Amino acid sequence: MCGIVGYIGKRDAYPILIKGLKRLEYRGYDSAGVALISNNQELNVYKTKGRVSDLENFVIQKDISGNIGIAHTRWATHGEPCSLNAHPHFSSSEKLALIHNGIIENYAVLKEKLQSKGYLFKSSTDTEVLVQLIEYIKISNNLDLLTAVQLALGEVIGAYAIAVLEKDHPNEIIAARKSSPLVVGIGQDEFFLASDATPIVEYTDKVVYLEDEEIALIRRDMDLKVVNLNNVEMTPEIKSVKLNLGQLEKGGYPHFMLKEITEQPDCIHDCMRGRINVEGSNVVLSAVIDHKERLLNAKRFIIVACGTSWHAGLIGKHLIESFCRIPVEVEYASEFRYRDPVIDSSDVVIAISQSGETADTLAAIELAKSRGAFIYGICNAIGSSIPRATHTGSYIHVGPEIGVASTKAFTGQVTVLTMLALTLAREKHSISEEEFLRIVKELNKVPEKMKEVLKLNDKIAELSKIFTYAHNFIYLGRGYSYPVALEGALKLKEISYIHAEGYPAAEMKHGPIALVDAEMPVVVIATQNGLYEKVLSNIQEIKARKGKVIALVTQGDTFISKIADYCIELPETIECLDPLIATVPLQLFAYHIAVCKGMDVDQPRNLAKSVTVE
Ligand code: M6R
Repeated sequence: MCGIVGYIGKRDAYPILIKGLKRLEYRGYDSAGVALISNNQELNVYKTKGRVSDLENFVIQKDISGNIGIAHTRWATHGEPCSLNAHPHFSSSEKLALIHNGIIENYAVLKEKLQSKGYLFKSSTDTEVLVQLIEYIKISNNLDLLTAVQLALGEVIGAYAIAVLEKDHPNEIIAARKSSPLVVGIGQDEFFLASDATPIVEYTDKVVYLEDEEIALIRRDMDLKVVNLNNVEMTPEIKSVKLNLGQLEKGGYPHFMLKEITEQPDCIHDCMRGRINVEGSNVVLSAVIDHKERLLNAKRFIIVACGTSWHAGLIGKHLIESFCRIPVEVEYASEFRYRDPVIDSSDVVIAISQSGETADTLAAIELAKSRGAFIYGICNAIGSSIPRATHTGSYIHVGPEIGVASTKAFTGQVTVLTMLALTLAREKHSISEEEFLRIVKELNKVPEKMKEVLKLNDKIAELSKIFTYAHNFIYLGRGYSYPVALEGALKLKEISYIHAEGYPAAEMKHGPIALVDAEMPVVVIATQNGLYEKVLSNIQEIKARKGKVIALVTQGDTFISKIADYCIELPETIECLDPLIATVPLQLFAYHIAVCKGMDVDQPRNLAKSVTVE
């Protein structure tokens, strides 16, 4: 959730930290701050409510010298967004400054203990408790900072990624993680620190991903040293990351979200590249080759995910059950992890996550692993925590997704799930060769068909003007299109703040139809597949109650265009690939409504891109 950046080296730290914070602003954006040890050895902390640009204005006229510093963008957990609660937090002596991502669950007990020793607190955060605890342990036992951090973290229950600066030791940063990501970048006589590799890649491609309960001692004058909480030295594994910097910029688009929606044809192409052969006669996923028996012998698949990734999981269930005839359950990771689920070594768990850092999904994986299940990850962020926690998996390869509203990751996830279902089905002989080839051929055409859908952008922008001031929306779909309805509704609510609900179309008459009147826009996915006639009847039911129907139909549809108020015509495809086509106009619709309302599309209120707390 929060973004962490650090630098130590020969250059001025401040510009590197600010640039890094801007790259990480998608992680949290209610306040921002920086701590620098200045050229005259002062430990300066500057922080303010608002965006990184507010921090830049705040530090004008201040001393931003120094070539060591740490910086933070916050997504509030404990205490409202304000400058007092913003990070970095000072210790009482103002000799230590600390930034933190995560939640210290036992902060109240620790705070009481420190208050009884005379410590005073300026903020309402759990983070200030941690920096005070470190100082208390350090002073009362006369320890160095590293040892004090080790002992303090031993008392902490919860999740953390932290970085600490000490005024009297201007040559080192101490950083540690547990259940919150932290990456150290290794340059020439300089080190970088960040919550993910995006702020680091323009300086170095050598990174070390810290593991849980590891502490990095980052010093100017020596190699990176990593120890655990018991001071056992660990051997850091240096990995190489390659990220295209262009993918981290808006590239002329007004918002990352529009850029990412528009990129989808290329993303899906990249996702399939090297996996579907040129002739379209074979689909290969290396994870399936490596673990064929384990996957084919699964008694059941359980898909765990959150939010948009969970919607992709619902489509995965349809695909795997239809083609492979293996039962699939789809679970919210947050529910699964606390439910004592019935799961054993005959199960395969598919964990889906764009960021690869979602705390609930990670916890669900750990639970399933502890019961002997085999874990297959479907992730986007390379080297993130989930791919490292799973037994195998497939990256979706759609490039960094910066907009908080997930778009290209969803279609990438559905594409990988489609390839996974097809590959397993072929191995299992549960799909005919003819059907397999028909679907692969159509899958290859999806990028071109998405391009056709993107040409509807202006029309969808016009349509969105009509509905900008609606207070509620209903989204309906059946079969493969039901998760698309859920996803369309989620996109709309998260960036436009309009209340929207997705339902299976036939459920309307069991309650939600009571909401329908002339003021209620109803978006219906009514392409000519599967349950088309039944969806047609559902539309009639809504029109009979004067609801305003916006229908997504197949090009050339003559029936629905006569009864729906507005139609968006989509290129024809086969039923199981409908979600890849029908999701795109719903993303555009949500985007344009949010723009018309003047909303901050890429950084909607209360949200963060990567949900690393539960
Ligand atoms: O990174 P993940 O895919 O694990 O994230 C899961 C959800 O937090 C995420 O999909 C969220 O719902 C998005 N804001 C949806 O647009």
